[in-house]
Amino acid sequence: MKRVVVDRPGGYERLRVEAARDPEPVLDEVRVRVRASGVNYADCVIRMGLYESAKHYVGYPITPGFEVAGTIDAVGSLARDVAIGTEVIAVTRFGGYASHVVVPRAQIFAKPRALSFDEAASIPANFLTAHWALHGLAKVRLGETILVHSAAGGVGGALSQLGRRAGARVIGVVGRREKIDVARGLGCDAVIDASSGDWVARARVLSPRGYEIVLDANGASTLRASFELLCAPGRLVIYGFHSMLPRGRGRPSLARLARTWLATPRFDPLAMTGTNRSVLALNLSYLFEQRAILHEGMRDLLVAFERGELVAPPITCFALDDVASAHRALETGATVGKLVLVAQP
Ligand SMILES: NC(=O)c1ccc[n+]([C@@H]2O[C@H](COP(=O)([O-])OP(=O)(O)OC[C@H]3O[C@@H](n4cnc5c(N)ncnc54)[C@H](OP(=O)(O)O)[C@@H]3O)[C@@H](O)[C@H]2O)c1
Repeated sequence: MKRVVVDRPGGYERLRVEAARDPEPVLDEVRVRVRASGVNYADCVIRMGLYESAKHYVGYPITPGFEVAGTIDAVGSLARDVAIGTEVIAVTRFGGYASHVVVPRAQIFAKPRALSFDEAASIPANFLTAHWALHGLAKVRLGETILVHSAAGGVGGALSQLGRRAGARVIGVVGRREKIDVARGLGCDAVIDASSGDWVARARVLSPRGYEIVLDANGASTLRASFELLCAPGRLVIYGFHSMLPRGRGRPSLARLARTWLATPRFDPLAMTGTNRSVLALNLSYLFEQRAILHEGMRDLLVAFERGELVAPPITCFALDDVASAHRALETGATVGKLVLVAQP
């Protein structure tokens, strides 16, 4: 097998591709011959050494990768009823940047026929995050107005689609004009281009009474304004802090980390109670053991993809050997949809 290994945190040069013996499944495990692995911004943060759950569960050296799609090519003694050749999606938490992965059978899901392998590998991390944020935490309701930051991106695009599917009015914010059409195509009713002026003023014009839900992975750069845009009752869902990191430089800057950490708002429980505005947060990688959340989310999502209620985002493929280019591209902030690594032709 081939896999990507990060021996210690650093820049793109730390993404080393190595050959290793094929892993053997035991007991209830199955082995997936990987056709595509999803790339997430969190993988870049793991490479930089700033992803706490990666240190907590695995440490370095580490193979990043939360998700793959492929076919079953070997099974353990307690998984003999899983047919060789079955097309699956597997959630991996870590280890997905590889040509073969071994996972417990509880972590595989039948690939919807409507999706290619590349598309299937783009689903779990983004859509489970969006699903838990919107349905598990914020409990989006028909007719609500929601604001989605980075609406043309991986999680943002999934939030836009799920928000529209739930009957909400979805307003997206994007960082570049070229992303407007993509965000619209993924379910946004209106899109604000933050590069062309005051996005907060525009958000107020688009929903003068405020927003029931705002979904924010920027951190310090937008969190305060996101909270102020809530109506009552309103919910701010926080799921990332990517403005703490430089665009496209590959390595964090300690000065920037410290500055943005200090600038990150601390929300006042008295003010929240008095105005019926709440702050919610999530990190999917710490929810991995919560099988009910994982399975309910995947079940709902995969049925929706099979029925055509959700569509795969635009996909950009990179060879597994070219993983550094995928990270470099994602960190520019210019990509749309999802990037995937293709292990085998
Ligand atoms: N909490 C969780 O469980 C969880 C799970 C998955 C992802 N996440 C987080 O969700 C966020 C989105 O992840 P993703 O994989 O879907 O990525 P993505 O949205 O496809 O790409 C990142 C986007 O963020 C924006 N951005 C803002 N500051 C940036 C910076 N300094 N560098 C690069 N991009 C920047 C850019 O879009 P615009 O310029 O258009 O805004 C960029 O296209 C990340 O912060 C990630 O860590 C959290």
